[in-house]
Amino acid sequence: MLTVEGVAYRYPGGDDVLQDIGFRAGAGEVLALVGRNGAGKSTLLRLLNGLRKPARGTVTVAGMNTAETPVHRLSQAIGTVFQAPEQQIFHATVQDEVMFGPRNRPLSPAERTARVDEALERTGLSDFAREHPLDLDQARRRFVAVASVLATAPAALLLDEPQRGLDAAGTARLETIIRQEQTAGRLIVLVCHDMEFVARLATRVVALSQGRLAADCAPLAFFADPTLTAAASVEAPDLMRLATGLGLPPVLRPAAFAQNWLSRPASAPAQQVSPCD
Ligand SMILES: Nc1ncnc2c1ncn2[C@@H]1O[C@H](COP(=O)(O)OP(=O)(O)OP(=O)(O)O)[C@@H](O)[C@H]1O
Ligand SMILES: [Mg+2]
Repeated sequence: MLTVEGVAYRYPGGDDVLQDIGFRAGAGEVLALVGRNGAGKSTLLRLLNGLRKPARGTVTVAGMNTAETPVHRLSQAIGTVFQAPEQQIFHATVQDEVMFGPRNRPLSPAERTARVDEALERTGLSDFAREHPLDLDQARRRFVAVASVLATAPAALLLDEPQRGLDAAGTARLETIIRQEQTAGRLIVLVCHDMEFVARLATRVVALSQGRLAADCAPLAFFADPTLTAAASVEAPDLMRLATGLGLPPVLRPAAFAQNWLSRPASAPAQQVSPCD
């Protein structure tokens, strides 16, 4: 689905922002892209969706080389929710905004309407269809961007910090959407600074450090390795820090923690280990 080989990029007049990036990702993966501010995550997403072309190396999406394929063709395979959703909102109503993708697809009017209605329903925006998107609060604006991408049913979704600014209900809604899209066989690339969110959803973590690949592994292996988390400037999720603080194996799921806790050796009672912070 997605192949990145030897990719480097620099903005005009600047230094290299990305160097020697390579990875592959396939259907049904939730690939978390992590790293400190300025590490190059959003730039990499713009290389994946073809808005920027690599200075060196190649990016291939659904068999299309991004350097040789017009963005509008790439956008049929790959949809992006940008870090600032305002940058992708152009229409005067939520309905028209979400209809933009389906209108440019070979679909019947009934299919287009069905796509829009479903996307609005899944994002909690059905009652806001006639509102101006920029009159909505930040969370709903973000969901307008999410709905617009869902309505195009792309093979891959790129989500740049989609959970930022969402309350618990919004985060849960977003989580449900991501899981549904994963189950439907889409590839999801999730840029995220919230490691609890990453730990719940990611099937894989790719970390960038100063524009280079610092890790590409399973979430458990990533978070359990302090060298990797330090390179990406992230902290392991609370549950893992609790487990390791108690001298138990590193885990990301409460059920695994409970099992390890209940089967811990009798010689290591809880009161003899130092509490973790
Ligand atoms: N349009 C641009 N022109 C020049 N330099 C840019 C541009 N956009 C980003 N950069 C620079 O490229 C580097 C990587 O930026 P990028 O936005 O990709 O980082 P990021 O990992 O997404 O950071 P954040 O977590 O803060 O969103 C930074 O040094 C940034 O200043
Ligand atoms: Mg960014």
